[in-house]
Amino acid sequence: MGALIVCTDLWKIYRLGDVEVQALRGVSLEIERGEFVAVIGASGSGKSTLMNILGCLDTPTRGRYWLDGQDVGSMGSDALAEIRNREIGFIFQNFNLIPRTSASENVQLPLFYRGASLREQRTLAAAALARVGLAGREHHYPAQLSGGQQQRVAIARALVSFPAILLADEPTGNLDTESSRDIMVTLARLNREDGLTVMVVTHEADIAAYAAREIVVKDGQIVSDRRKAPVHARGG
Ligand SMILES: Nc1ncnc2c1ncn2[C@@H]1O[C@H](COP(=O)(O)OP(=O)(O)O)[C@@H](O)[C@H]1O
Ligand SMILES: [Mg+2]
Repeated sequence: MGALIVCTDLWKIYRLGDVEVQALRGVSLEIERGEFVAVIGASGSGKSTLMNILGCLDTPTRGRYWLDGQDVGSMGSDALAEIRNREIGFIFQNFNLIPRTSASENVQLPLFYRGASLREQRTLAAAALARVGLAGREHHYPAQLSGGQQQRVAIARALVSFPAILLADEPTGNLDTESSRDIMVTLARLNREDGLTVMVVTHEADIAAYAAREIVVKDGQIVSDRRKAPVHARGG
């Protein structure tokens, strides 16, 4: 079995009238199952563009991409949506929870779309919430939870359908230092204990420090890619 993610020479070019923005300029990358990867770079360096392509939310202008052995680069939008729902769990900076909807119902949503029974939805959602330390908060609404807790609900929603990879774009961008640490410890624990493959996009070095591999992106290119010891995730 090859690497979970294999991409070669990815380019993304945006055209705005006469102006051409080269957001990605020849990115090649392999990610193995079970890795915990941070993609770090300044604002505008192409991190989100790369994450959106790897997450099948967007397609490259050119280059090839295989996800879990499937040639994603050649897929149409329906096939892409299907592989995205099956293989990818997303976590965003602003949590993207549905307001006035309980934590459990937020986490159940991906299972609802897959046609799971209500009983199965509730059981799996409760297990996922427990996994991120939110057992007993199933019936809380997002507004009744702290920012860090809301992001943990979003992590539970991302992992409830057993995706091949969790993709997190600036997951701590709206959180204070303590909650940020909490989220990174949670992701590190899920990677270590459940073997989840995790990729975190960030512009902050102390967030990237939790990962075991650091990929530096600059002006749409990978300028460094190294494995390293993650910071000790105390309490994880
Ligand atoms: N939809 C878009 N249309 C045009 N330009 C875009 C679009 N999305 C991103 N860009 C440009 O591509 C470059 C990379 O953006 P992005 O991937 O969002 O960087 P990052 O996430 O590292 O801040 C930036 O110059 C940005 O302005
Ligand atoms: Mg971004």
